[in-house]
Amino acid sequence: MHNFDFHNPVRVLFGQGQIATLSTLVPEGARVLMLYGGGSIRANGVYDEVKTALAGHTVLEFGGIEPNPTYETLMRAIELVRAERVDFLLAVGGGSVIDGTKFIAAGALLDGDPWSIFEQRAANIHAALPFGAVLTLPATGSEMNSAAVVTRKATLEKRAFASRHVFPRFAVLDPTKTYSLPARQVGNGVVDAFVHVMEQYLTTPVDAKVQDRFAEGLLLTLVEDGPKALSEPENYDVRANLMWTATLALNGLIGVGVPQDWATHMIGHELTALYGLDHAQTLAVVLPAMLRVRREAKRAKLLQYAARVWNLTDGDEDARIDAAIERTEAFFESVGVPTRLSGYGLGKENVEPVLAALEAHRLTKLGEDRGVTLEVSRKVLELAV
Ligand code: NZQ
Ligand code: ZN
Repeated sequence: MHNFDFHNPVRVLFGQGQIATLSTLVPEGARVLMLYGGGSIRANGVYDEVKTALAGHTVLEFGGIEPNPTYETLMRAIELVRAERVDFLLAVGGGSVIDGTKFIAAGALLDGDPWSIFEQRAANIHAALPFGAVLTLPATGSEMNSAAVVTRKATLEKRAFASRHVFPRFAVLDPTKTYSLPARQVGNGVVDAFVHVMEQYLTTPVDAKVQDRFAEGLLLTLVEDGPKALSEPENYDVRANLMWTATLALNGLIGVGVPQDWATHMIGHELTALYGLDHAQTLAVVLPAMLRVRREAKRAKLLQYAARVWNLTDGDEDARIDAAIERTEAFFESVGVPTRLSGYGLGKENVEPVLAALEAHRLTKLGEDRGVTLEVSRKVLELAV
């Protein structure tokens, strides 16, 4: 296990009814801007609960943050923050709203164009407005991490940044607020959380026993409860376990002291930027092909994964690896997320533009060993057609 410095300052309030605690979580006297998406929070009652909890606060609103939040929309929010002297942000929604809020929190305090955050790998972020999150979609882990992904519509670019200045102050997680999720978003969330674990686990062994077994516990929980969230949408325990799993999958804990991959995510971001696939859809397509192409580099961990997650312990090693990858694919399909580009109307002709985008963004040495060159990415994408 490698050296590490683990720091996560996010306070989590978990369980039914926790939205009411916003009345004390949000600082008294703050000028609050509540940020949300396209209206799901009005339909499922979250909007009313938040407004009731904040009845004693000054609250302005900014709605319309889209899935894969755009720079163009977020810049309008930054203007509002500045014009209204907002000093506290409250994100109410899924990963897109929370990520967008992180960009606004940092961008509002920056001189010059906030897009520079991506060009400077967030080195120009020295402060950010404080903010909290009310999560309505378990998937990204954004509620308990310091990363965000923003899309620039004008140039079809999807870029990520991370900064210790954009950890939420708190995250409110009420599993009952996920009952209203459409099946597509439930499946997306399960796949996204699963792949977050895989990016930090399925690399090379460094004898990090706790991180490995913790990761395997998260994967097994997703396999057990993911399909149940679709068949029993109002099962509180299932929703609660999924919500906490997705948070722990990307709050930093399982990633400490171990090699990390993230090649699947980087290729996936280009697929979303170019072709509009949902984030998790891109991961369901890329991950199985990535594991097949990189099976030698990942051999030891693939065998461990096969044994501990899929109970594949007998017979030929290569057959076990094949079976584990097939089980992974079948699992993604079982929660309604297709695992081939063709499942989204894309084909071989759509591969080249992804490679060009990876090159333009200098994503030409990805993976835990920087072994995912453009040639490897090409093989992965061609295999994923
Ligand atoms: O916009 P509204 O009307 O709220 O509807 C949303 C949206 O259409 C809907 N929804 C959310 N909660 C709901 C609900 N519908 C009914 N009931 C509820 N309780 O779901 C749709 C998708 O929402 P979105 O926030 O886009 O989904 P998700 O949470 O999957 O976030 C995806 C974004 O997060 C980024 C992705 O790239 C993508 O842009 N990621 C962020 C990460 C991070 N910050 O660490 C890591 C991830 O790997 C990921 O890249
Ligand atoms: Zn993800």
